[in-house]
Amino acid sequence: MIEKVREKVKEILEKDNSGHGMDHIERVLHLSLRFAEKENADKNLTALIALLHDVDDYKLFGKENAANLTNAKKIMNECNVDENTQKSVCAALHKIGFSKRLGGDKPESLEGKIVSDADMCDAIGANGLLRAHKYSTKHGAKFFDKNIFPIESVNAKSYTTQPTSTSVCHVFEKLLKLKNLMLTTESGKNEAESRHNIIVEFLRHLFDEENAPEWQNYLDNYLKNL
Ligand code: ADP
Ligand code: NI
Repeated sequence: MIEKVREKVKEILEKDNSGHGMDHIERVLHLSLRFAEKENADKNLTALIALLHDVDDYKLFGKENAANLTNAKKIMNECNVDENTQKSVCAALHKIGFSKRLGGDKPESLEGKIVSDADMCDAIGANGLLRAHKYSTKHGAKFFDKNIFPIESVNAKSYTTQPTSTSVCHVFEKLLKLKNLMLTTESGKNEAESRHNIIVEFLRHLFDEENAPEWQNYLDNYLKNL
């Protein structure tokens, strides 16, 4: 059944080039299953939530589909997922995502927490940096501009409405905050910590190479207040 779901998700997300493509889903699935093993979670439920977590993303499919979970429900019906499981999956899907977190929402089940952590982990570390680079390239924004500093306090509204700035601003406005948003005790926190450190190390090298000591200071202050 999981294989069938995966094929259908692939059909929907194959053409995506906004950072929610099948490569992202496969990484989130893999990491989620690793967390599920450590946390003794239900692997079948974890896999379903991971595979379906972006098929109704509001940025790709609009607010209405996001609110109704149109694609997720359609796929689960086509794959004969039982009603109870569908309910658990939908409850988690309604609560996964950075902008929802900024608004105070978070998943309640262990499996929902695991996928939320894995999704956020994929926005940091090596792949997080590659995704941020891809995003700025696609939107015609620069990866780094010495003269453009991050917005200090990002909330749910400004995150979803602000125009695209540089990737480095995005790193400060979102990515460096993610390690503090982990929901599962051991696995998510440990993984996020090491991925966070990769980004910090990368920024230090970048600011050094760009001869931008003011940004080095900005980073130090930012980390102190994190
Ligand atoms: P999510 O899947 O967590 O909802 P988004 O849809 O906001 O993430 O973004 C998809 C990917 O693009 C993520 O890896 C994110 O870090 C990256 N991204 C989003 N906005 C920007 C930006 N302004 N600059 C660079 N990267 C961005
Ligand atoms: Ni995602």
